[in-house]
Amino acid sequence: MIVLGVETSCDDTAAAVLVDGRTVIANLVSSQDEVHSPFGGVVPELASRQHVRHILPIIDGALTQAGVGLSGLDGIAVTRGPGLVGSLLVGLSVIKGISYRWDIPYVGVNHLEAHLLAIFLDREVSFPYLSLLASGGHTLLYLVRDFGAYQYLGGTRDDAAGEAYDKVAKMMGLGYPGGRVIDQLSKSGNSRAISFPRARMKRGSYDFSFSGLKTAVWHYLKEREKDAWEAQKADIAASFQEAVVDMLVAPTLRAARELGVKRIVLTGGVAANSRLRQRMTEATRAEGMEVHVPPPSLCTDNGAMIALTGYHWLKRGRRDDLRLNADADLTL
Ligand code: KG4
Ligand code: ZN
Repeated sequence: MIVLGVETSCDDTAAAVLVDGRTVIANLVSSQDEVHSPFGGVVPELASRQHVRHILPIIDGALTQAGVGLSGLDGIAVTRGPGLVGSLLVGLSVIKGISYRWDIPYVGVNHLEAHLLAIFLDREVSFPYLSLLASGGHTLLYLVRDFGAYQYLGGTRDDAAGEAYDKVAKMMGLGYPGGRVIDQLSKSGNSRAISFPRARMKRGSYDFSFSGLKTAVWHYLKEREKDAWEAQKADIAASFQEAVVDMLVAPTLRAARELGVKRIVLTGGVAANSRLRQRMTEATRAEGMEVHVPPPSLCTDNGAMIALTGYHWLKRGRRDDLRLNADADLTL
């Protein structure tokens, strides 16, 4: 079964072709980082316009790379939410048009479900597993019991982890997106140089919170001359990052222990963070657990995870029609 997957929920226009739910034969992404970089974050209106410009060439490119024509497709999967509504509408409308004109079945896919399942594009993992999804838009912890069976355990109460990275990078004039830059800069800094606060949640909660930390960094910078903190940039980055990683690792490990789950999967753009990977690997090894992280191209937004999720639904006989709408607040 050959499935085309299309993703336009935020600022990446992506398309991929997947064979039998396993083999990715094309996976293309057109990033908008340059467009949003001057603003230090995604500007929704600009994002939709970029999607309009790029979606057909990206779909065309993926089909050409895969050596498959539209007539060779058994189905199409497209993200229907959650995300920016203007961005979602571009992908969904284009796919409805293609599905109608060429009579190809299509399904609308939940973007969060796709992130939770993306690991299967890289390797087999047995159920159940805990999935920590940390990106620019989400910080969520789910127990994945089976395909289609997801239990919400916790989420951020304010900023997403990647959003905190991006905002702190903006304060420090490091550019957008900020995660990778802070990750790199931290390698030459001392993570114990500054003791930034860690949010503490009530007992039994697996929630996250990053806005207090972000504000603490803001105060730290404001209370000093620019030259003074510029000279300390790597230490600030490393200390901030250590606090983020502490706040991601602690609830995840606690949930794994309390629920007796032995496997943890990291996903979303922040899963590319070298310190998070290192700390999670050390912590899980000490507790006899496993940690799995898909390669960066499958952690960040991509069409392959949408195709994979769509493949499972199509196989179960689901078909969407032209009445399906985008849902910016779609939950799992
Ligand atoms: O999943 P993603 O590509 O897009 C969505 O947000 O949906 O994630 C992007 C986020 C950005 O906030 C970026 O700063 C962060 O992931 N990120 C990182 C790293 N690489 C990307 N954060 C920390 N360390 C990294 N190495
Ligand atoms: Zn995403």
